[in-house]
Amino acid sequence: DDRPLTVAIDGPAASGKGTLAKRLAVLLGVPHLDTGLLYRAVGRRVLDDGADPADAEAATAAAVALVPADLGRSDLRGPVADAAAAKVASVPGVRAALLEFQRRFAQSGAVLDGRDIGTVVLPDAQVKLFVTAGLDVRARRRHQELMARGGNVPDFEMIRAEMAARDEADRTRAAAPLRPADDAAILDTSSLDASEALARAEAIIRWKLGV
Ligand code: CDP
Ligand code: CDP
Repeated sequence: DDRPLTVAIDGPAASGKGTLAKRLAVLLGVPHLDTGLLYRAVGRRVLDDGADPADAEAATAAAVALVPADLGRSDLRGPVADAAAAKVASVPGVRAALLEFQRRFAQSGAVLDGRDIGTVVLPDAQVKLFVTAGLDVRARRRHQELMARGGNVPDFEMIRAEMAARDEADRTRAAAPLRPADDAAILDTSSLDASEALARAEAIIRWKLGV
């Protein structure tokens, strides 16, 4: 297999997939794309337009109009952006508009993380990881992250409830639902820190590539 190396990483919120994807990309010497940012930026554009992120027409128009600078916005994290992202993400026109960009990004090798990378975006990726962890662990991680960033932080119970609702929406939507690809390796990070998760992922990759 002499194709450029592509690694697909999927999983629910705060499973550690973004941190892992970033570190793997450095290790493998390929670029990294956090595809969640695309949906977050589309959600923000819809809110800017004063429209409802669940409105398919408004969401699709925002996805078609997306420009790279949108990904550098400083308001893409937090509960409002989380909810808007998950709403636009269930619109098929939005997913279709973002698909080509993601595939082109991966053309000469890349690590992509999201929800549908192994199943839809890069079904032929040489390595697929499905990163997961228990809901309480993930909610605690997100709570700590928000606390570290400062400002107004929702309490733990609120974060956990919103996360559970977003996971459920991502898993049960008709368009590209969150699920492990048939050929994905499952990596449960509930009791692993980020370096331990990286070590496991490296071992899986070496085994998959036979190196
Ligand atoms: O960081 P976190 O896992 O909380 O979220 P994210 O990866 O930035 O994704 C935000 C939302 O975008 C998710 O809840 C999904 O609804 C959507 N998303 C998606 O549908 N497909 C992707 N490949 C990436 C994100
Ligand atoms: O991208 P995703 O939403 O799946 O999670 P993340 O942003 O990579 O990680 C959420 C938080 O969990 C970060 O603060 C990480 O430092 C921490 N963490 C991790 O990434 N990996 C672990 N195995 C354990 C914790």
